[in-house]
Amino acid sequence: MAFRQHILDSEGFFGPYGGCFVPEVLLPALEEMQQGFEALKEDPQFLSEFHQALHQINGRPTAFTPLPRISAAIGGAQLFLKNEGLNHTGAHKINHCIGQALLAKRLGKKRIIAETGAGQHGYATAAVCARFGLECTVYMGKKDYERQRPNVYWMELLGATVVAVEDGSQTLNDAVIAAFKDWVANPTSFYLLGSAVGPHPYPAMNTFFQKVVGEEIRSQCESLTGRLPNACVACVGGGSNAMGMFFDFLDDAEVRLIGVEAGGHGKQPGEHAAKLLDGQPGIFEGYYSYFLQDDGGNISNTSSVSAGLDYCGVSPILAWLADAGRVEFERASDEAALAAVQRLAREEGLIPALESAHAFAYAFELAATLTPADVVVINASGRGEKDLFITMRHFQEENLLAYARHLLQHQSQKAFAV
Ligand SMILES: Cc1ncc(COP(=O)(O)O)c(C=O)c1O
Repeated sequence: MAFRQHILDSEGFFGPYGGCFVPEVLLPALEEMQQGFEALKEDPQFLSEFHQALHQINGRPTAFTPLPRISAAIGGAQLFLKNEGLNHTGAHKINHCIGQALLAKRLGKKRIIAETGAGQHGYATAAVCARFGLECTVYMGKKDYERQRPNVYWMELLGATVVAVEDGSQTLNDAVIAAFKDWVANPTSFYLLGSAVGPHPYPAMNTFFQKVVGEEIRSQCESLTGRLPNACVACVGGGSNAMGMFFDFLDDAEVRLIGVEAGGHGKQPGEHAAKLLDGQPGIFEGYYSYFLQDDGGNISNTSSVSAGLDYCGVSPILAWLADAGRVEFERASDEAALAAVQRLAREEGLIPALESAHAFAYAFELAATLTPADVVVINASGRGEKDLFITMRHFQEENLLAYARHLLQHQSQKAFAV
């Protein structure tokens, strides 16, 4: 089957998945977005503006880096990473933010709404809004707001209004609901959605804006190794970095495509965020796909050490590709992801985002089952600086506490001095 063409030509359905199940008030805004995107994705001037912005703002192409020490220590496949963490603002998210912001400008929009989990999509949205002169409001679950505080600071510095959402589990799902509520109240705003999820056209549109990642991997891997990878491995939250990496290889049957979900701290409901492995099909947040839910169809809570994977749903395109057997799914636990961060730091001098670390954790296991003639590429979707307050707690609690005490002491001395 020609998977790529089907995605490009689809009118929002991927097998039974996808669709556009939204309140009537949003239909005109989504139709305007669909038509705008359909016209622009074929428009050479728009495409050249998009690729120029990817180069000038993000410095694309991003690096393709061998992992010689870890590969040798494992003694299996040769490992390579695609360093999306080198993008401006630290993750792949800015690829689709640039695409959607350019579309919003063409549609004459003045105000952008976005949701964010780890803060990477919000940070990237705030940056492109500042650059393109758009007003920006970002919704973030209160739990994520607290655990990814550095990104809140950057978003605010870039002029965005960041709203901490106190409903539900206070994570990405609640941020998406709050952003939709804003859009229902303000349908002339542009909702710049952060993954390959949501109603049509978001899944195909964000895949289109992210597919540059896989295109670059193909030529970088061929020029470095003289061949295509045996396997491409990406973490899966909603699915934008995975679709960005996988799209170009979908019709190369010899390349295994593996999505790694958040195994959290257990397999019971509420302990993980593995929706393709443990979820059920259903309609939520405007689209039909796999969701973590109970027998009554109520959305379950999710858990992951990485805010960006802590979400109940997944791209309808990935649901379709999973059913078709084209993309395989695995899980990596919180503990395995943290161990992967530490291993990459110590053995390769790289600090991946906790989200991406899930892909590394599984890729290390996979590599051990292969031979040095095999090539495995991992999508390092983001860099790990944003995770400072999480990883420090796990790796160097005493140092963190000492630093926090020092800061507090310094602050109170200043307060007395005033
Ligand atoms: C660095 C990074 N990787 C991955 C993800 C997961 O999102 P997606 O599955 O859409 O790539 C996020 C989400 O915030 C992220 O920040």
